[in-house]
Amino acid sequence: LDRYAVIGNPISHSRSPAIHAEFARQTGEQLSYEALLAPLDGFRDAVERFRRAGGRGMNVTVPFKLEAFALVERCSPRARAAGAVNTLAFGPDGIFGDNTDGAGLLRDLVHNLDRPLEGQRILLLGAGGAARGGLLPLLAERPASLTLANRSVAKAHALAAAFRSHAPDVALDACGFIDLTGRAFDVVINATAASLANEAPQLPPGLYAANALAYDMMYGRGDTPFLAAARNDGVTQRADGLGMLVEQAAESFLLWRGVRPDTAAVLAALRRQLA
Ligand code: ATR
Repeated sequence: LDRYAVIGNPISHSRSPAIHAEFARQTGEQLSYEALLAPLDGFRDAVERFRRAGGRGMNVTVPFKLEAFALVERCSPRARAAGAVNTLAFGPDGIFGDNTDGAGLLRDLVHNLDRPLEGQRILLLGAGGAARGGLLPLLAERPASLTLANRSVAKAHALAAAFRSHAPDVALDACGFIDLTGRAFDVVINATAASLANEAPQLPPGLYAANALAYDMMYGRGDTPFLAAARNDGVTQRADGLGMLVEQAAESFLLWRGVRPDTAAVLAALRRQLA
């Protein structure tokens, strides 16, 4: 049996083993997929041990995605752009790194939620790894504009500066939350870690255009704080990051096994479990 695992800290809450087990059942692929807890200072050792024990690949989650990028010998262009790796593939010529988070986000937005992004005004909240991973694939959809807003304004400016040359046709700007006053957006994506503190980013009111979508990369039982705030603002189209989770998993599965699983049934089952 080919062995795979997700590695992180914490990891016990991870739904990836269940998702990949279902993908394997559905596609008839013979593999096992486990959850590995690595000590905060023991990521490299844990990866090496799993590889030597015959592991074929891993998913990497919080807080190790940057370390994983530093670890790999080769990586995909999208992993290099993100500066972060969420998927490792072990081969005869070393460790290959990919980042499927952005593709998962796009697949969820455009395919599952039927929200084409071309010509849309996008607001991306946050300037950490999650925002960084989503930036390039979002820009590739040719939105009318993409605004990066972050609590620490300097980090948003730095991120915008780093990506401007990737999409010269898209109006890419950066600011703090308060500077958003008076502006309106069609798609607002929360890529901050605020939900982990059970908080929503402190946004000015009136940001959502008619028919706007509020999207949180985080998920949980019921509305996240960000989605609850959007509901209070009268936003009817809201989605959490469960779809992104399943779609990034499917992209990893495709990289490892060469077959793309069907995500709809898996997402529906997870949704029922969280209800
Ligand atoms: P990740 O890799 O998950 O993006 P990160 O690199 O630690 O994690 O980045 C966390 C992001 O969430 C940052 O943009 C952070 O804002 P700052 O750069 O100002 O720290 C943002 N964040 C965390 N807690 C927040 C909160 N309570 N309100 C708003 N933004 C928050």
